Amino acid sequence: MAYRILLIHGPNLNLLGDREPSHYGTMKLEEINARMERLAEEHGAELRALQSNSEGALIDAIQEARLWADGIIINPGAYTHYSYALRDALAAVRLPAVEVHLSNVHAREEFRRTSVIAPVVTGTVAGLGWRGYAAALDALLGLLADGGGGQS
Ligand code: DQA
Repeated sequence: MAYRILLIHGPNLNLLGDREPSHYGTMKLEEINARMERLAEEHGAELRALQSNSEGALIDAIQEARLWADGIIINPGAYTHYSYALRDALAAVRLPAVEVHLSNVHAREEFRRTSVIAPVVTGTVAGLGWRGYAAALDALLGLLADGGGGQS
């Protein structure tokens, strides 16, 4: 089955490549998305990528994913740490979802150690740079193929 995956990038991730490269690497968002689209294709899956700096647009995309997607990969950026609205949207659509952080959020400032998103996603990848997205896609497609993608 050709699974359909929504890849969501939250605020400030449009600046990847220029933004704090010591934390986030030098690869631009367009390059990450291109690699992810290629990887999805290799797996016989379809991937649509979206970036927004606006919480409402991210919530709209998650709600719409209910109508077409089999799973979600999301880097919520700083919304990770405080957006109950984003958390509620993910909980509401009940799609298998993987939270990704480029940096190792646990090795940085205290406020980054809290994720209000983590309890409503299937799993989390942090600290692996752009490769974290590839790992998330691999895991998500495997979980879907196993027949679900829920917490197991
Ligand atoms: C991030 C970590 C967040 O704390 C930060 O606000 C980001 C990026 C990451 O990918 O490491 O914008 O989600």
